[in-house]
Amino acid sequence: MAILVCGGAGYIGSHTVYQLVKAREEVVIVDNLQTGHRGAINPTAKFYQGDIRDAKILDKIFIENKIEAVIHFAAFIEAGEIVEKPLKYFNNNVYGMQILLESMVRMALIKLFSALLLLLTASRKNSLSRKTTERNQLILMANPN
Ligand SMILES: NC(=O)c1ccc[n+]([C@@H]2O[C@H](COP(=O)([O-])OP(=O)(O)OC[C@H]3O[C@@H](n4cnc5c(N)ncnc54)[C@H](O)[C@@H]3O)[C@@H](O)[C@H]2O)c1
Repeated sequence: MAILVCGGAGYIGSHTVYQLVKAREEVVIVDNLQTGHRGAINPTAKFYQGDIRDAKILDKIFIENKIEAVIHFAAFIEAGEIVEKPLKYFNNNVYGMQILLESMVRMALIKLFSALLLLLTASRKNSLSRKTTERNQLILMANPN
């Protein structure tokens, strides 16, 4: 059984993969390399270059591998840019997670750890508040029913 790390070529994702490999876990990575780096991909992991908003690649990964859990780090994180391009962030961080969850539900996979900690809310003055409570480190149970 393997663990799928979405965004495994990024900063947090690559360190997570390192720790998983060290713990002798089988790891599969999906990353579009938009902000990640090919050189950060652990050679022990199986790598798919693809986007989590692409349901076909996700379904292919779930079919080709025995995935028991998903760890999700595939997101944009630039706190300044989100104010200027909120829809770009909504599309990747929210819609992307929806596509991922839908694929997991199709595959009846229920374990997801998401580290999308950067819950940004623009106040009236367009300043940002960053909520990084542990509550945001969710283990979501995607119930196929
Ligand atoms: N950097 C931190 O200190 C930190 C701390 C806690 C949580 N986080 C959260 O962890 C997540 C990742 O942060 P990071 O610092 O590693 O960012 P990062 O940009 O280094 O990594 C994100 C990775 O996801 C990939 N990616 C982005 N959108 C994708 C998509 N649609 N499909 C496939 N791959 C995609 C990128 O190519 C990149 O490799 C973010 O949600 C962030 O809020 C970051």
